[in-house]
Amino acid sequence: MTLLCVTHNNMLELTPDMSDLRAIAYVSSATYLMTVPQLESLLVEARNLNLESSVTGVLLYSDGNFMQYFEGSEGAVSITYERIRSSRRHKSIIELMNERIAERSFPDWQMGFAQPTQSELLSLSAARWQSMASEAPGSLATSPGLALLRGFWKGAPR
Ligand SMILES: Cc1cc2nc3c(=O)[nH]c(=O)nc-3n(C[C@H](O)[C@H](O)[C@H](O)COP(=O)(O)O)c2cc1C
Repeated sequence: MTLLCVTHNNMLELTPDMSDLRAIAYVSSATYLMTVPQLESLLVEARNLNLESSVTGVLLYSDGNFMQYFEGSEGAVSITYERIRSSRRHKSIIELMNERIAERSFPDWQMGFAQPTQSELLSLSAARWQSMASEAPGSLATSPGLALLRGFWKGAPR
């Protein structure tokens, strides 16, 4: 949804309705090299919890490293993040993005999963994740990291 807002110079401008959505992205190191059954069990657990709280997103795993992007209401994201941070299955969490968002990027994924190559994961984590204000009035702010992740997800073998 878009809203009409009056700007500082009294111009009417289209701005996105930021509603109540937040997104967080981070990278972390697994505390041990995870086997396929261990990854599957983590995913089942996460997806069940996310289904209950309407959290969506994607989890990537490559060679002992995780990257996760998740989105949802402020309350749900905060509880989910707390749960993720306190998990003993990973450590050294580095937050890449923690922002309000206008709309979901992965609305159909309770928690998508893919295994990128090490270099794909590296370029995703090295991207700039903070949103850059768009030059065009009324258009959404964009995060280059998120744009890269969406592009990767479109082409990722699953
Ligand atoms: C890499 C990773 C991703 C996770 N993703 C989610 C998630 O999307 N939603 C959620 O509710 N919990 C998530 N969790 C938390 C787990 O579902 C579970 O609650 C937690 O791992 C339990 O703590 P433990 O690992 O110390 O046993 C995640 C945990 C890890 C390590």
